[in-house]
Amino acid sequence: MSRLWNVAVAGATGAVGNQMIQCLEERNFPIKNLKLLASARSVGKTLNFKGTPYAVEEMTEQSFAGVDIALFSAGASTSLKFAPAAVQAGAVVVDNSSAYRMEPHIPLVVPEVNPHQIVSTPGIIANPNCSTIQMVVALKPIHDRARITRIVVSTYQAVSGTGQKAVMELQGQIKDLLAGKEPEIKVYPYQIAYNCLPHIDVFLDNDYTKEEMKMVHETRKILEDDSIRVAATTVRVPVYYGHSEAVHVETESKITAREVRDLLREAPGVVVVDDVAAKQYPMPLMAAGKDEVFVGRIREDISTDKGIVLWVVADNIRKGAATNAVQIAEKVIELKS
Ligand code: A2P
Repeated sequence: MSRLWNVAVAGATGAVGNQMIQCLEERNFPIKNLKLLASARSVGKTLNFKGTPYAVEEMTEQSFAGVDIALFSAGASTSLKFAPAAVQAGAVVVDNSSAYRMEPHIPLVVPEVNPHQIVSTPGIIANPNCSTIQMVVALKPIHDRARITRIVVSTYQAVSGTGQKAVMELQGQIKDLLAGKEPEIKVYPYQIAYNCLPHIDVFLDNDYTKEEMKMVHETRKILEDDSIRVAATTVRVPVYYGHSEAVHVETESKITAREVRDLLREAPGVVVVDDVAAKQYPMPLMAAGKDEVFVGRIREDISTDKGIVLWVVADNIRKGAATNAVQIAEKVIELKS
């Protein structure tokens, strides 16, 4: 019988942590012991895994004894506090927060793109930002064929990326507005229902947001090419699950829309939905609950000689976070076995 592993989910009660548990179950990850960790607030709660209730434990530095793989999604400060203790205890940490992503010695991994960066010795592997993950899955085959020199991307990001409280806020605001009441605004600076906010994470000195600059730096790191120029505008939209992106790329050598379509049909983790005559294109409602990255509206950029435009959609909680982390963990145990 093949080996079973001791797995911890740190941040198990959160939106991504919950999805991690579901992904481990769906993908039949070979688990011996499962530890579900959260803050002291969650002690007393139970969460189900394969029909069995598991008690949520308070995360401490001692939580990781005997743990082989720790999947973290409890925010950057929690990762900074506890991930080193998990590594010290001998675990491979897959960290969904932004805490370690840009550390030069920490691998930043999307398994379809740079699986060779995965290590199986105790240490941290960073899971990229949701918007970056889906974009690089779609762009890697194009980069390999024609070398991407520039990316201009606009995102349309679902509220679930902010966490469960933002999902509730959108629901609440829609209800309030339909009832003729003043909507309650707590999570975002403005009403998100029936609105779009060109503001994700904090504004930086260069007037881009941190989310936008994550897309710049993480894309270069994952594609292992610091010469790619990237400019992003990231926008929060009133969608529950599924980020969409209009991606404009310029390439060193000419590639046609048809070639891109053919390449992406063969690409791992990608589903091409691109038949405009039949009104077939990806949408968040199509991608929600799925693990693939959906790509459509593939066309040549009429404003430049060597440019391609794509519409890329994926479930931000699944491929954008939990699924990607579990896929990394699957590669880790493959290497360890
Ligand atoms: P808790 O539910 O006990 O607060 P989300 O991103 O959906 O808000 O979820 C964040 C996750 O991170 C939750 O599981 C939350 O646990 C956990 N978390 C937040 N802060 C801490 C902390 N200081 N120690 C342990 N877990 C934490």
